[in-house]
Amino acid sequence: MEITLGVNIDHVATIRQARRTVEPDPVQAAVLAELAGADGITVHLREDRRHIQDRDVRLLRQTVRTHLNLEMAATKEMVAIALEIKPNYVTLVPERREEVTTEGGLNVAAQERHLAEVTDALQSAGIPVSLFIDADPAQIEASVKVKAQFIELHTGRYAEAPNATLQQKELAVLTQGCELARASGLRVNAGHGLTYWNVHPIACIPGMEELNIGHTIISRAVLVGFDRAVREMKQAIRGL
Ligand code: PXP
Repeated sequence: MEITLGVNIDHVATIRQARRTVEPDPVQAAVLAELAGADGITVHLREDRRHIQDRDVRLLRQTVRTHLNLEMAATKEMVAIALEIKPNYVTLVPERREEVTTEGGLNVAAQERHLAEVTDALQSAGIPVSLFIDADPAQIEASVKVKAQFIELHTGRYAEAPNATLQQKELAVLTQGCELARASGLRVNAGHGLTYWNVHPIACIPGMEELNIGHTIISRAVLVGFDRAVREMKQAIRGL
């Protein structure tokens, strides 16, 4: 089965929020992304609402025709929003107010009980849960215990590796993590820091299902348009 692309449209909202105006609208970007071949739309509703707003998530729930992946922190407020909006799945991510972007994976092992409760609340309501984690066997085993259906492997270290040797090492860590997770019954996605230039090896990892990609697509879309940016990412995933 071909690996799918979830287009993260947070940074369309980042541009809008720079002026606190109504353009560009992430809802329109989601339509264009889907027409260009996106398999899913991903948004991160942050506690500080720095980019995506509640209004966006509500409208996207009504307009997205593929699937809507809501990234959020495992807080009471966010769980209530997810239970009301019912995205197709939720990805739980760590969140610190001062970070520029999500900096590391969730420490599932350190908060197993809390994450098990949140996961159960969402999955009992029919919303599958994915945990954004580093490809660390301890975190993968903890994710199994929490009973999440999916994990999303953090590809940041791979993306930021300073040379080809270290990047190969990180690729091997991700490949082994994916294998362990699949053998443990988890479904596996990946994302963070992926670009047109580094995505193909990640897309070739056996058992990987979906890649969530944002910044590089929005950056290219500003220059060449949304349609072309998404189509070119679909090609880059295929190694074309
Ligand atoms: N996956 C997760 C869990 C994220 O938090 C992010 C960033 O919001 C992404 C994927 C996309 O990362 P990027 O914008 O670097 O492609």
